Amino acid sequence: MTGRREARRASGAKMTIAVYPGSFDPVTYGHLDIVERSRKIFDRVIVAVLVNRSKQPLFSIDERVALLKEATEPWPNVEVDAFSGLLVDYMKRRGAKTIIKGLRAVTDFEYEMQMALINKNLDPTIETFFMMTSKEYSFLSSSIVKEVARYGGKVDDLVPPIVASALQRKFASLGPSADDR
Ligand code: PNS
Repeated sequence: MTGRREARRASGAKMTIAVYPGSFDPVTYGHLDIVERSRKIFDRVIVAVLVNRSKQPLFSIDERVALLKEATEPWPNVEVDAFSGLLVDYMKRRGAKTIIKGLRAVTDFEYEMQMALINKNLDPTIETFFMMTSKEYSFLSSSIVKEVARYGGKVDDLVPPIVASALQRKFASLGPSADDR
């Protein structure tokens, strides 16, 4: 914990807890850029992985959480957790008031605004905090990474080495049925 945070805690100020929700299927350097920057702003950042019921993810919830835990291991004020159901309900259980979202381009805006407004409608005490992705990751998404890795392309500069290896193993084990994910 930094000296500034310690001083704030000592003064009785409430700890700021933010939740960074997503599918993280799998985590990319774009996600980690957002976590790394937001952990300097909030006392605690919870990276919350959605247990998707509608989407068919490539990695299981346990695999996605394990990859994220390893990738965020150097950061003591970052926690990785899984959730299902409404994000606002999960946040209430965790005592968090801020949702962190990364924006890559104008194309993200409409969907993210809709999500922010519905979450505000569900719980007016919750704020969504938008952070622009660093420009080197503005093209990056988990879907793009999976597409490249599926056909044996190089993803070393897009995801941490543990994720690159996990992608390689996953596509090797799935064989031709990988095209469904
Ligand atoms: O990485 P993604 O798939 O874009 O993340 C979407 C996520 C997990 C942030 C969003 O789907 C979500 O918050 N889902 C939980 C259910 C919920 O609260 N939905 C909003 C109100 S309908």
